[in-house]
Amino acid sequence: MRVTSWAPVASPGLLMLRRPQRRGYAVAAAASRPAQYVAPPWRPSSILDEWVQREVRPISLRQLTFFGRTLTQDRLIQGANYARLELPTRIAHRLRNMQTLPYSALKNRHIAHVYELYYTAFERFRKVPEIRTLEDNDKYCEVLIQCLQEHLSVIPSLGMGVLEIQDSVSSEECDRFMTTLLRSRISRRVIAEQHLALTETFHSAWHFPNAKKSAMAPEDDFVGEIFLKCSAKEIIETCAATATELMSKAYGPSVAIPRVVIKGHLDTTFPYIPSHIEYIIGELLRNSMQGVIEQRQSSSPRPIEVLICEAAQSVIIRVSDQGGGIDRAILPYLWSFAKGPRRNMRLQNLEQVPKLAGTMQELRWADSTGPDRSHSPGSSQGSGEKYGSSLTALSGRPPDLRLGMGLPMSKIYAEYWAGSLEVHSLEGYGVDAFLQISKLGNRNEKRREIHTQEG
Ligand code: COI
Repeated sequence: MRVTSWAPVASPGLLMLRRPQRRGYAVAAAASRPAQYVAPPWRPSSILDEWVQREVRPISLRQLTFFGRTLTQDRLIQGANYARLELPTRIAHRLRNMQTLPYSALKNRHIAHVYELYYTAFERFRKVPEIRTLEDNDKYCEVLIQCLQEHLSVIPSLGMGVLEIQDSVSSEECDRFMTTLLRSRISRRVIAEQHLALTETFHSAWHFPNAKKSAMAPEDDFVGEIFLKCSAKEIIETCAATATELMSKAYGPSVAIPRVVIKGHLDTTFPYIPSHIEYIIGELLRNSMQGVIEQRQSSSPRPIEVLICEAAQSVIIRVSDQGGGIDRAILPYLWSFAKGPRRNMRLQNLEQVPKLAGTMQELRWADSTGPDRSHSPGSSQGSGEKYGSSLTALSGRPPDLRLGMGLPMSKIYAEYWAGSLEVHSLEGYGVDAFLQISKLGNRNEKRREIHTQEG
């Protein structure tokens, strides 16, 4: 009998924590059992324990692509059932992770809010019965959409919570906790959004009179959320335009914004989820632009150079600026969610905009009527708009809003599909950021064993 964890009583409002079952209670129950009863070495003590026992089934971009490319009704239903079991499993692991936080940290209002969101989602997901028909699937998609919307506040809440719990949790632990939580959140959103996109593809295919047996022709460039031919150059251009717009709003029209010059292998394409790469490149360009602008050394700022290099197995994108480099005091904390300059952030600034502060690509869920699929990558086929759907949402975001999580979040995104992100600061000169993308897409999503399985 497990007696150590704090299990929440699902409540519509406030998070309530139930004290662990008392040892004496368990002993009394055991004493009333027949003498021959031999207790197994470990027995699940709650529904959550049962789900935590389940193994996470990892995914790769390539698997998602192959699966979605030959989409039939049976496969769609199979995918729905994968998500139906996988999402509560992954959430259960994270809930268990959160339960290992000190009580004072778990009851922080922001962390408690996230915990409650996850517990509610866990309860909702685990109760979905087996999906057998398209109608069942449609109902399931409604549940997914509702959760995706409700969870928009997760990132800003975690961002604020992690700053407030530092008296009870070390910065290193906070960073580990955040990395695990955010990485697994990406995974769940990928699973949910991919299934929604495939469902939509499937439905729209059946509306054509000559609907094929396979809803998606192999030559199509999108498989759900995955764009098979992401053009590095086009993505950089789109992100540069958005970052420029954001900077001019933040600094005013009189400030010159550095140009972005793209060089190297300009024809490079690779399969990826556009919103993920847009997030990373958008953050890198924004940081570089800010560095150059704030140096204020000249009225014609030095351009930011972006080099694309296509190798056999990967694509490397180097973003170089001449913004003077990163302050020595900040450098050791570049990848930290908890340490460094974030500690001094004015939290009330963030509290005013809990939704807007989520990652950019999530903002398409902010509309309570559901996702605007006409803006999503999966439905932009034929419209000519492949990128920037997520970035257009930036116009609704205060231009000077800084969550201070852009770089560590970008690293998590880069590593998620087996890539990497490194930043080299040349003191007094500038910064070179190296983003490496795995071109083959055959490596599984990144997971790491922490306390329980990551997923
Ligand atoms: C999240 O967005 O936090 C999730 O866990 C996604 C899931 C509810 C589909």
